[in-house]
This record gives sequence, C-alpha cells and structure tokens, in this order.
Amino acid sequence: MANVTVIGGQWGDEGKGKIVDWLASRAQVVVRFQGGHNAGHTLVVGEQTYKLSLLPSGIVRGTLSVIGNGVVLDPWALRTEVEKLSGQGVSISPETLQIADTCPLILPFHRDLDALREDASGQGKIGTTRRGIGPAYEDKVGRRAIRVCDLAHLGELGPQLDRLCAHHDALRAGFGEPPIDRERLQRELGEIADFVLQFARPVWITLNAARSRGDRILFEGAQGVLLDVDHGTYPFVTSSNTIAGTAAGGTGLGPNAVGFVLGIVKAYTTRVGAGPFPTELDDEVGQRLGERGHEFGTVTGRKRRCGWFDAVLVRQSCAVAGVTGIALTKIDVLDGLEEIRICTGYRLRGQMLDHLPAHAADQAAVEPVYEVMKGWQESSAGARSWAQLPAQAIKYIRRIEELIHCPVALVSTSPEREDTILVRDPFAN
Ligand code: GDP
Ligand code: IMO
Ligand code: MG
Repeated sequence: MANVTVIGGQWGDEGKGKIVDWLASRAQVVVRFQGGHNAGHTLVVGEQTYKLSLLPSGIVRGTLSVIGNGVVLDPWALRTEVEKLSGQGVSISPETLQIADTCPLILPFHRDLDALREDASGQGKIGTTRRGIGPAYEDKVGRRAIRVCDLAHLGELGPQLDRLCAHHDALRAGFGEPPIDRERLQRELGEIADFVLQFARPVWITLNAARSRGDRILFEGAQGVLLDVDHGTYPFVTSSNTIAGTAAGGTGLGPNAVGFVLGIVKAYTTRVGAGPFPTELDDEVGQRLGERGHEFGTVTGRKRRCGWFDAVLVRQSCAVAGVTGIALTKIDVLDGLEEIRICTGYRLRGQMLDHLPAHAADQAAVEPVYEVMKGWQESSAGARSWAQLPAQAIKYIRRIEELIHCPVALVSTSPEREDTILVRDPFAN
C-alpha cells in the first residue's frame, strides 16, 4: 500500500496543513516526524479555521494522529493546543493521539535560551520562532535531554538534571541569568506529567503494525527543505532535517515506508525570519502578494517576506529531498497580474549558476535571472478542475514542471479544503 510523505519545498508555509488535511480522508494514520511547535499549519473547513502547531493535521478529521520520536515536544504547548482544539469541537484522546515515549522535551529554559541568543545577536539574528526548538535539539544530540518516558520516572531524574543543569547554568551565566530553579522545574514537570503520559506509547509498534495491516500512512513534514539544517540556507535554518528521509528516522519505520514524496510548493515564494532570499520583492508587487496571500506567520504573526517563484531553489529542493511530485498551492494569489516572473538561474560575480551556492555570503550575493510570462486576468480562485483554470495559469504550471524537473500532482486554489485539483493521485503511486 502506498504511503505519502508531505514536505515543504521552500521556506515553510507552503500550505502543508491544507494538503495533509485533504489527503487525510484517505489515510488511516497521520504522523509528524520532525520539528515542534515552531510549525503553524492552517486548515480551513467550511466556516472553521484550525491552526495546528504540534498536533498532526489528521486530528481534525479524527484520523489516528501520531507524534514521532523526531519531534521535540513542549508539554505545556501540547496541553494548550489540545485544549484549544477541543474547544473547537475536535475530539482528542489516547484513541486518536499517540506520542512517542522517546520524544525529547522542550523545557522552559530552552525557550529562554532561544530568546536570549536572538536578542544578543543584533544583525546576526536568525529570526527563530523563539520556541526553544534549537536548544532542545542541541540537548538531544548532546545526550542530555529529558524525554517523554522520563516523566514516568521523575523520582530518578537527579543525575540527568545534574548534567543538564551543569550545561545550561554555564550558558545562562554567560547571559547574566540565574541558574535553573530545579525545584520549580521538578514541580512543573510533576504537574504536567500525567497529561503527557496518557498519550505516550512506543509508537514504532503502532506504526509497524499499521504498515503490516496495509494501512495508509501519511507523514506530515514541518518547515521546508530550504530550512533543513543540512540542505537549507545555513545558518538561517531550523535545527532538524526537513527532507522526506526524516519520516523514517523520526518515527521508527524503515526508509521504504516513505512512499510518494509530495513536495508542497507555493506558486510564488515567501520566507519568514532572516536569511538570503534571491527573488525577494521590496516593491508593490511583493506587497500585493503579501496582501492577497495573507502572508502573516501562523505562529508569530510576523509579516512574511514575498517574492517571485524561484525554480532554481525548488529544483534543488526536489532533488535533495527526493520529491516524486509537487502540490502547487496559492496559484489564485497570482490572479490579475500583468506579468509574472520565474527565476531560472543566478548570476554570481559575472558567472551563471544553476543552483544555490553553499556559502551564506554567496547565497546573499546571487542575482536572479528571470524569465517573464504573461499573467492572467481571469480568476483561478476556487477552481476544482483543470478545466476551470485560466489557460495562461495552466501554461505557468506546465512551465514550472519543466523547470523543476518534477510533475504536478495537486493544485490548490484557495484555503478551503475542497478547492483542490487532483492531477495524479499520490496514494495510487
Ligand atoms: P503550512 O505551514 O505549510 O501548513 O502553511 P500555513 O498554514 O502556515 O500557510 C499557508 C496559508 O495559506 C494558510 O493560511 C492557508 O489557509 C492558506 N492556503 C493554503 N492553500 C491555499 C491556496 O491554494 N490559496 C490561498 N489563497 N490560500 C491558501
Ligand atoms: P511551517 O511548518 C516558516 C523558520 C523561522 C526561522 C527559522 C528557525 O509552518 O512551515 P526555529 O524556531 O525553527 O529555530 O526558527 O525557521 N521557521 C519557519 N518558517 N514556517 C515554519 O513552519 C517554520 N518553522 C521555523 O522563522 O527563520
Ligand atoms: Mg506554517
């Protein structure tokens, strides 16, 4: 049975939540495998809008939702989100939500450290979501993390806290901050433990059993390939691998479970946070894209930077992440433009490049080379079939496919769940 792995093909916010929700009607399990509550995935179903940061988007339809070991979990953010969604009528219980007992926890001092570093960085700010994601992953790799399973053994936490506090107290002292209040931390963990533990499972067992039964598994990536810690615009990236391969390591399934890799790609480009952005527009076209596309961050409310579609970056993303087909979203935002530009190459100090160079200074210095296409004046908003798309919009989509060397599987024409065109069924491949 084919599984589908959804990942972002640009700098995040491509519309992964909408597409995962749409595909979730045909999956038995939806699984998050990396990132944390830095993600903000929006689902629009009729009159209701749901904003999810940590919970897999399948939860809204009542599909079994799993948070894999690759995710860093803030227990308090989890409780807040569960309460918020329950208030919107979504049923969340251990029947519908399972969390890997091996997930590392994001603790209050991770969030502090994230903010302290950002505030101290001046011009070098990464523009993180300040959720403690980076510091929590550092502790995981540094073998100092407190994990979900530790919440069932709080009485034995002493030696782990010694290591963790020794590390963090030194860092905090460097910022003039007092040491971690261990008693308070232990008390707070004691208060939240049962809430988290009701969902905790060895989810690799659940997922392997689902696989053996032939259930369809839908993996929900967060962020995007250009924010990947290896393949992205380092150091202006997040602290996890966002490519499709992480779906295996981040859940406890083998690499052959990944299935069809669906890259979600916006019909133009946005970025929230600092870092290079070759096709960024500082003019009224950029402003128009931001307004029509409602480009404000789901998590932080920050204005997203906007620019033309960058085929060089998306071709690179599709290659390094192993994308089988893309879902092209927000094509409706381009309605009414006289002309549309697509970046097809870069110029760097007089030389042509067909890929993004590795060095941050070179990434910041590349100049986009554009191909200009005629826009369309008809509306594509709400189109649900290929035939309802303006002819010129179809030309634009076909040109993108050519330039990125990857076919289009889905087209999205509004935030609403059903305003989606199926070109090639990812589950059938
Ligand atoms: P994600 O992080 O990839 O899930 O994306 P976000 O939810 O952060 O941002 C995408 C935004 O675009 C959300 O507000 C969606 O409701 C909206 N959206 C998704 N697809 C479309 C589309 O095809 N057209 C329009 N106009 N909006 C869309
Ligand atoms: P979704 O899943 C867009 C960006 C931040 C910052 C960088 C590092 O909604 O697409 P972090 O807090 O992860 O250490 O911040 O990554 N970032 C995102 N940008 N969408 C996201 O998630 C993002 N998650 C992190 O803005 O530039
Ligand atoms: Mg988002």
